[in-house]
Amino acid sequence: MHDRIGSLENARRAAAEDSALALARRPRRNRRADWSRRLVRETTLTVDDLIWPIFLIEGEGRREPVSAMPGVDRLTVDEAVRAVEDAASLGIPAVALFPYTDPAKRDAQGSEALNPDNLVCRALRALKSAVPHIGLVTDVALDPYTSHGHDGLMEGDRILNDATVATLVRQALTQAHAGADVIAPSDMMDGRIGAIRAGLDAADFTDVQIMSYAAKYASAFYGPFRDAIGTSKALIGDKKTYQMDPANGDEALLEAELDVAEGADMLMVKPGLPYLDIVRRLKDRFRMPTYAYQVSGEYSMIQAAARNGWLDGDAAMMESLTSFKRAGADGVLTYFAIAAAKRLRGERQG
Ligand code: PBG
Repeated sequence: MHDRIGSLENARRAAAEDSALALARRPRRNRRADWSRRLVRETTLTVDDLIWPIFLIEGEGRREPVSAMPGVDRLTVDEAVRAVEDAASLGIPAVALFPYTDPAKRDAQGSEALNPDNLVCRALRALKSAVPHIGLVTDVALDPYTSHGHDGLMEGDRILNDATVATLVRQALTQAHAGADVIAPSDMMDGRIGAIRAGLDAADFTDVQIMSYAAKYASAFYGPFRDAIGTSKALIGDKKTYQMDPANGDEALLEAELDVAEGADMLMVKPGLPYLDIVRRLKDRFRMPTYAYQVSGEYSMIQAAARNGWLDGDAAMMESLTSFKRAGADGVLTYFAIAAAKRLRGERQG
């Protein structure tokens, strides 16, 4: 009888000790005030983390709204100069240029990509002289220039790898001559990083950097972008024979490993939020400067919900951008760059 009471007493005491122990660890303690939350914060988003993608159109003094991307305009070169001056004064380190090519200038070979006076090259020259201290990133891929909307050259319904790579090298050189600081191949052909590096070096562009879209997925989230550059109607079929299967993660490591070996200076994962696991795996494995592209569809989802009053757009913007940093990204290509930079500046002052 006595024993029984004793063992119950022991059990009660053990339980009390357990709960005292549990309550000795209160993670909420560090969250109780703003100063304390700031003190324990693990990641910080700054303006230095932002790359701003902009869309270009022919003409002068014109901004043309992209209907599927509220708040985003296609800009003529003179308007782009003004916009990039604003970006630079906000402290944004780099912009990425994407052209809307006149359909009359598109052909099966994407020849306009090699024209030293094409829209991107004219924008590069204007931006380099007007805003010399901002980084200029250019997209290497043929899709803005091809009549079929694919990133590569075609034979029947096949995308030709090696012939495309030869053209991409020439496209990269054309951009480097016009003033590109960073060549960003988004085409996903095999071997293009090594070929572009060799081409740049042979032409004395040894300092031009390469930001490789190492892991670019065949994604539904590019829809609004294809409207912005006018390829959605043109595109025949899909891009699944060159862009990656969204179901694959290990394969992203292989893609990145090849790109690093071939001379990539920076890696990129695209799209962004649905692929944060890939960002983390690439960062952990390669320890390279690693970027995420918060693509058009991600931007438009947040904007659409915000415009419907379904969520706080600014808060969702800042949360999503911070998440990229937490996942290991060194920076983010985002259509929110200007809004985020303004918001960050406001927070610093406030
Ligand atoms: C094409 C390219 C795409 C994007 C950047 N470069 C679309 C595609 O592969 O079809 C998408 C960017 C975005 O959705 O914001 N080379």
